[in-house]
Amino acid sequence: MFNLETSVAGIKLKNPITNASGILAKDIDSIKELVSSGLGAVVTKSITIEPRKPYDLPTAVPLECGMLNAVGLSNPGSESLKETLSTLKEVGIPIIVSIAGRNEKEFAHVAHVAEKYGASAIELNLSCPHVEKMGLEVLNDISLMRKVVKGVTSTVKIPVIAKLGIVDDIVRLSGVVLESGAKALSLINTIRAMKIDVYTKRPVLSHVIGGLSGMAIHPIAVRAVYEVYKEYRVDIMGVGGVYDWETAIEMIVAGARAVQVGTAIIKKGLGVINEIIDGMIKYGEEIGARSIGEIVGAAHKA
Ligand SMILES: Cc1cc2nc3c(=O)[nH]c(=O)nc-3n(C[C@H](O)[C@H](O)[C@H](O)COP(=O)(O)O)c2cc1C
Repeated sequence: MFNLETSVAGIKLKNPITNASGILAKDIDSIKELVSSGLGAVVTKSITIEPRKPYDLPTAVPLECGMLNAVGLSNPGSESLKETLSTLKEVGIPIIVSIAGRNEKEFAHVAHVAEKYGASAIELNLSCPHVEKMGLEVLNDISLMRKVVKGVTSTVKIPVIAKLGIVDDIVRLSGVVLESGAKALSLINTIRAMKIDVYTKRPVLSHVIGGLSGMAIHPIAVRAVYEVYKEYRVDIMGVGGVYDWETAIEMIVAGARAVQVGTAIIKKGLGVINEIIDGMIKYGEEIGARSIGEIVGAAHKA
């Protein structure tokens, strides 16, 4: 039997599949729903110090090649973590709390609250493409990014995973966050994009520019995972356009130790999780591998 157990930043996962931040895990009930779908861990929606409201509708548009969204990092704020995390203490799988903020103090505060109430790890959202002062702007300001990662890693003892988006020097930036104390990376976030209605001649999203996710970004995510793993041999969660077992395995062979699924859950429903897991087991048995660990980064071996 192909062993699906894996670990990221020292956290043990019964299998390598998690949801991507922002997909369902917004409240206790939707997190419970995710837990029962067979995931190896749950990643919460990005939490900020204060609650945030969504942008005006439409905040999301389905596309043939994926999906476009600009939700605005709407979330119930850091105080909500107390109830959410205490209720979810007994779920039996790791809960990774995604956090966002405008500066190192906000990030460190939310990370502290998440740790206090039982988060297994922190995922730092350094890369939301459609929220001013909170997303890609952190990634594009290296000194701020260093401060954020150092601020959080010196505040909490639980592992910190930095989530980066597509920028030209993703390999160098990965090095910077690792030097600053991040134990692992999530690669990648959505990519800045837009859609225009040709009849109204207006942008479709109320926020005009949003983030592209789904199938269209998968080869870009695979490239990012491959290049960063090649340079640092670090623990990576591969994110971007995973929609079946084959796209999940591609991430692992490129160098990911776990794989996050976002748009495919929205488009196909939670049944896609077991579909991916079953397909991975069949693939492992077919190629005669004993465990996920055996194929992590296999594309780099001569
Ligand atoms: C509706 C929606 C909301 C999202 N919200 C967040 C978020 O709060 N924090 C974050 O780090 N990423 C967020 N993302 C990005 C996803 O976590 C993921 O990086 C991206 O969608 C690529 O994966 P996919 O192609 O499997 O969807 C969101 C994506 C979507 C589609």
